[in-house]
Formats: sequence, structure tokens, C-alpha cells
Amino acid sequence: MSAAERFLVTGSMGCIGAWVIRQLVAEGVEVIATDLATDPVRPRLLMDQKALASVDWQPLDVTDTDAVQSLAKSKEINRIVHLAGLQIPFCKANPPGGAAVNVIGTINILEAARHNGVNGLAYASSAAAFGPPDMYKETPIPDSAPLASSNLYGVYKLANEESARVYWQDWQVPSVGLRPYNVYGVGRDQGLTSDIAKSILATAAGQPYNIRYRGDVTLQHAKDVAAIFIACARSGLQGAQVCNLRNDVTTVENFIAALKAVEPAAEVTCSGDVLPFAYDFDDAGLKGLLGEVPHTSMPDAIREDLALYRQLIDANGIDMTQLER
Ligand SMILES: NC(=O)c1ccc[n+]([C@@H]2O[C@H](COP(=O)([O-])OP(=O)(O)OC[C@H]3O[C@@H](n4cnc5c(N)ncnc54)[C@H](O)[C@@H]3O)[C@@H](O)[C@H]2O)c1
Repeated sequence: MSAAERFLVTGSMGCIGAWVIRQLVAEGVEVIATDLATDPVRPRLLMDQKALASVDWQPLDVTDTDAVQSLAKSKEINRIVHLAGLQIPFCKANPPGGAAVNVIGTINILEAARHNGVNGLAYASSAAAFGPPDMYKETPIPDSAPLASSNLYGVYKLANEESARVYWQDWQVPSVGLRPYNVYGVGRDQGLTSDIAKSILATAAGQPYNIRYRGDVTLQHAKDVAAIFIACARSGLQGAQVCNLRNDVTTVENFIAALKAVEPAAEVTCSGDVLPFAYDFDDAGLKGLLGEVPHTSMPDAIREDLALYRQLIDANGIDMTQLER
């Protein structure tokens, strides 16, 4: 860690963003935490008042080119973790809005990196940029396998990967794109795949829960994903690389078994369809970049989440209505 690091984090009120801020603050790194939202609901789940107060919170709409540029300049940013984005259902409900945030927002971040000498940018792509599982005969699926998303969200992410490639080619802006699959952990409270995280919250509260999909999944804990984003922003890579994430290639049924092994009283079931996404990814590219990929074992992650959820429930510090969504 260099003392001169100044991180800009976009989407810092989101699930992964909250974990990124938490790690950077714990390391004593200067962090400018930005989002459209201004109430740090998710960071508050993970950080105490003192830690929250040490963050430079700045409202920022990533679709606003001038605002992104002037913030990066005035704060002398030299690293960026770019997470702001709209998820699959929001992009489907509002395609121009989704394109504005996910595509133009990312162009604005690449521009900010280009004009402010940022020497480490990690941005969120997604495994949803890949096509359906039957498209890939070679598994685990390498970083270079063809992308063919069946939803607009994935198409926007694909566009971002290509934009980043051209920013390196034309202006030598270095970047690492990361493709998470199903992120779980405290703070993961929205989107279809958030049911894994919610099942741990329900178990901590002594409530039954049904996960609304089954079968093959890849699970990545938010703490590990945050550590991966930060490490990639620090990697010193000269180029534009995009990396798959792996960690736990498993099934929903195996996750439930692991949860019950940690907490035998858990009453968690699953039903519905298998997720229509390719799931078995090779993370050799990420290992090559980082050496070692942060990976908390599923039982340890479940144990840590149960403990944190219980603390939050006891302190009346978490919105339990998320279990009804
Ligand atoms: N969670 C996952 O399983 C997963 C999987 C693959 C990829 N990703 C990607 O990782 C990134 C972070 O995911 P997350 O789960 O933390 O998402 P999230 O939905 O919890 O957070 C996204 C954040 O972006 C902010 N945002 C939306 N529009 C904005 C705008 N115009 N300007 C600034 N901020 C804006 C939102 O307020 C929110 O706080 C996203 O880009 C997402 O597409 C997530």
C-alpha cells in the first residue's frame, strides 16, 4: 500500500461498494466514496461510526461527464474502483436509463482516468456478458471465450469491456474488468440472485427461507470480491485485461447443505428454475494477475455472515423487509 493512494469508488452505497469502502478504511487509505444515493445504509451494516466518519462521501451521478471529471481532478484521484451500475431488471425496464448509467457512466470513468493520470482502474463487468451454458463446450470457461449475452445488461457490460480495450489502445489507460457471478454477504439485499445472502439472514433470525432458484451457481463472497477489485486497481497492469471470477463453483443444494452444517437449525429450501447463465469459469487470468485470489471458504463465510447478521438483528440495525422482496 502506498501512502499516496487516493481511491475514487463509484457505487459505494451498493453491496460490493460497501465492502470496498470497509477494506480501504480499515487499511487507512484515503477514499472518496461516491454514489447517487446519499444515505450510507449498506456501509453502516459493516462499519462503525468512527470508520464511517473517516470517509469522504461525495454525491456523484456517473452519467454526468463534467461532474465525474471535476471530482477526479479536485480530489487528485489516482485509483478507481468503478461499481456504479443498474442491474438486469432495471436495464430491462428502462433500456436508455440502463445504457446511460452502465455504458456512458463507464465512458465517463475511463475519461476521468485518462485525463487525471489514474494508474489503477478496476471496473465491474459481469458473468452475464457470457451466453447460455450450452454455448460453451470447453469448461471451465476461459476469459477469452466469446461473449453473447441474452440480456441488455450483459450487452452493456460487453460494450464496456470493448471501450476499456480501446482506451488502452488509443490512450494507454490501464484497466482491469472483473466478471462476478453471484455475490453474497451482508449488504446483498436486492436482485434475484440475492436469495443466497437472504437465506443466511433468515437463518440468523430463526426464520425459514426458500431460495427461488436451484442447481448450478458460482458463489463469491462480497468481502472477497471487494478485495479482488482493490487488488486489481493496485496490480500495476499495463494493458486492458478482463478477468473471470471463480471461487465456489457449486449448486444451490450444496450451499444449503453447507449452511445446515454450520447451523443445523437452518430451515432453507430451494425451488424454481436453474439460472440461465454459464457458471463454470476459469480464473487463471485473475490468478496470473494477482498471484493469489482472495477466497473465504463457504463454511467460514457463512459463519462470519451469521455472526454479523445476528449482531445487526439484535441492534435493530438491518431492514428485515428485504426477506419479503
Ligand atoms: N452483485 C452481483 O452478484 C454482481 C454480479 C456481477 C456484476 N456485478 C456488478 O458489480 C457492480 C456492483 O454490484 P452491487 O451488487 O454492489 O450493486 P448494487 O445494485 O448493490 O449497487 C450499485 C450502486 O450503484 C449506484 N448507482 C446507480 N446509478 C448510479 C448513477 N447514475 N451514478 C452513481 N451511482 C449510481 C446505486 O445507487 C447503487 O448504490 C455493478 O456494476 C454490478 O453490475 C454485481
